[in-house]
Amino acid sequence: MNTARLTLDPRRRVAPVPRRLFGSFVEHLGRCVYTGIYEPGHPTADADGFRGDVLALVRELGVTTVRYPGGNFVSSYRWEDGVGPVDERPARLDLAWHSLETNAFGLDEFMRWVGKAGVDPIMAVNLGTRGTAEAVDLLEYANHRGGSHLADQRRDNGAVDPYGIKLWCLGNEMDGPWQVGQRSATEYGRLAAQTAKAMRRFDPDLELVACGSSHLGMPTFGSWERDVLTEAYDDVDLISLHAYYQPVDDDLASFLASAEDMDRYIDAVTAIADSVGAIRRSTKKIMIAFDEWNVWYQSAAPSTPPSGEDWPVAPPLLEDHYSVADAVVVGGLLISLLRHSDRVSAACQAQLVNVIAPIMTEVGGSAWRQTIFHPFARTARHAQGTVLDLLREGSTTTTGRYGEIDAVDAVSTWDDTTGEMTVFLVNRALETPAEVTIDVAGAQVSDIIECVTVGGTDLHAKNTADGPDHAAPRPNGTARGADASVQLTLPPASWTMLRLRATDTTPVIG
Ligand code: AHR
Repeated sequence: MNTARLTLDPRRRVAPVPRRLFGSFVEHLGRCVYTGIYEPGHPTADADGFRGDVLALVRELGVTTVRYPGGNFVSSYRWEDGVGPVDERPARLDLAWHSLETNAFGLDEFMRWVGKAGVDPIMAVNLGTRGTAEAVDLLEYANHRGGSHLADQRRDNGAVDPYGIKLWCLGNEMDGPWQVGQRSATEYGRLAAQTAKAMRRFDPDLELVACGSSHLGMPTFGSWERDVLTEAYDDVDLISLHAYYQPVDDDLASFLASAEDMDRYIDAVTAIADSVGAIRRSTKKIMIAFDEWNVWYQSAAPSTPPSGEDWPVAPPLLEDHYSVADAVVVGGLLISLLRHSDRVSAACQAQLVNVIAPIMTEVGGSAWRQTIFHPFARTARHAQGTVLDLLREGSTTTTGRYGEIDAVDAVSTWDDTTGEMTVFLVNRALETPAEVTIDVAGAQVSDIIECVTVGGTDLHAKNTADGPDHAAPRPNGTARGADASVQLTLPPASWTMLRLRATDTTPVIG
């Protein structure tokens, strides 16, 4: 049995929980839009063609923000193709995913869907094949109240009120050779700065995201962030990070510890951004938008887009089926994001439906939850209030990739309106359970509200449309104790959420 002692120090407040950490991503890719969120004729579809079963699952998932329309797709997308009368919209070749884009779904449909889903939009502009002018046109169409050509076009298309989209991504993965319109860091940094300046002439309060590296392993990682921010530091608010995880060489121990990589990535980009800021003697801090993250089996065949003469409409692409182990990893990655909530102010799990997604659909049939749905839904619902860092002591576990690491990873949130304290924990040891003691220093725990666990068994089990739901959180009956200390046992390779009610709140929030 491993042991861990976690001390919840009331003074170790990280930041208010950024609700935008629980964002997701809808790209025109595979079946994410078409037959994912949008399927006219589906038995649950509404008058807009939005699947009601998917909308219900999106609400249950607790997603707060959704990034759109890509991804690689955005880098050759003409947003104008997707507005106006649907039967006049052109079909276009989507160069990113070698598919035919019908444009039946576009900006106005997305904004109607956003309203029904109860989420906030994050909009990406095309800085691959296009530039500042088209970005500003899109902004005018979306956010200007009326009286100009493009704003009036939106009103004619049925949206009288401006959309008021606040958070904008300036391109996507512009360092990647796979990106249509890839640029050097300096070229991109200048274009991002120029586009940001133009967009701010319309609205100085927009929040603008510059593209960071596509992943930590990019050969230009580090110098890319430095050079982009050297050009655009004063003009942007956030820099993006993207990371996808999968087991390499069947090394499940390292895979379970993927949050180590995420921690290091965030710390590295924070340091680079701060070093650029320090050189500029700037007091401004660049925040992080971790606007693509997830488990993705990139080596799997369905990740490969079609080729040659074949340009299918909404082909099934990147439809990973997730295991219980994948759910534990997703829970761990959310712990890393919460721990860094002083710098990560937005994040998007990629993606929302069908494409490396927590929600799957059958064409004309059911919508169902993947294993990774559950830790996301529970964290999004119960990580409320303020993030508290935890002092961690105890057993370590060995991984091939990250060396000796703490067997138990954890973070806590404190909601001073309800008096609820929630601890999210992962036992990353593959074989060994962990006995955890939580010192809730300064707060009197009056009640264990709920303790649920995902994993520990059936690590390779996957959900299907017909069930069963292998990663549905099950009660963990080991949680016990009160006053200033709580104990619980974590099964090996598992994610757990422990909800406590604390009566003496003053020291915690003071
Ligand atoms: O999410 C799938 C793809 O991964 C996105 O289109 C791209 O930005 C990233 O490489």
